[in-house]
Amino acid sequence: MTAFKSNCNLKIFNKREDIHHHLNNLRSAGKSIGFVPTMGALHAGHLSLIEAARNKTDVVVCSIFVNPTQFNDKKDLENYPRTLKEDLEKLRAFKCDILFLPEVEEMYNSSEIWKISLGDLDKILEGKIRPGHYQGVTQIVNKLFDTLKPDFAFFGQKDYQQVMVISHMVRKMKIDVKIVVCPIIREMDGLAMSSRNVYLSPEERIQSLALYHALTLAQNLFETQSIVETKKRVRSFLDSCPGIETEYFEIFNARTFKPLNSKNAEVTIALIAAKIGKIRIIDNMYLNKGNSH
Ligand code: PAF
Repeated sequence: MTAFKSNCNLKIFNKREDIHHHLNNLRSAGKSIGFVPTMGALHAGHLSLIEAARNKTDVVVCSIFVNPTQFNDKKDLENYPRTLKEDLEKLRAFKCDILFLPEVEEMYNSSEIWKISLGDLDKILEGKIRPGHYQGVTQIVNKLFDTLKPDFAFFGQKDYQQVMVISHMVRKMKIDVKIVVCPIIREMDGLAMSSRNVYLSPEERIQSLALYHALTLAQNLFETQSIVETKKRVRSFLDSCPGIETEYFEIFNARTFKPLNSKNAEVTIALIAAKIGKIRIIDNMYLNKGNSH
């Protein structure tokens, strides 16, 4: 038996079979399951997903698994922050019911191959810069969905392209789960929360605000300027920001996830990625939606 009950009611499972069986029993008893997949190093963004899951479903399951197949850089995988002790405290404080904490061998066998057609979704923006990344993401999320069979799965808007990719997979593979997208949680000064932010030096932390400023500038410009002009001015703002190596700044139709050249989309989103020193940061913001997140 790999599950044990902690003194704060957070049950931890390491084996797929055990958690699958446990959740099946809960489902048979009429409970709805909300799932928050993570790679750990939990911050307020993740905790807002736990809270959203708690508000919507009877049983909240979080997974912590640093998924090797979505890293195209071995060093990045090795250096990914791992803070299990603090993560457990946060999950207990936020009343998460169940944690799935598998080892790599539990999720993968050595001869495994995964390939899903994602159309353009894994060829543009993040997909272009991180080849194979979304294949790895879909591979693990599909396994997690298959193991846990959640009714709802909660993802942050911060990796908007990931939300598009997962939604595409769910439709294509007819997976019976509803995807819930939760708003970006920001630091007081606007920086989007990310597990990688801890690696920014104090100077880089200040420089990183350029991304948020670029997005709010885009939002303001978008009210009066064309898309072409908005992109031009935001890119030139980014060029003037010290320490920022912009990888992309784009304006997309948020529904179709295609680039926009004129204002003909119901929901428009600006997406940005930049390097500050060695740290990559991504962020996005709706440009014509009431809620500015
Ligand atoms: O967003 C993440 O943390 C990861 O990509 C996910 C969804 C947990 C899959 O490993």
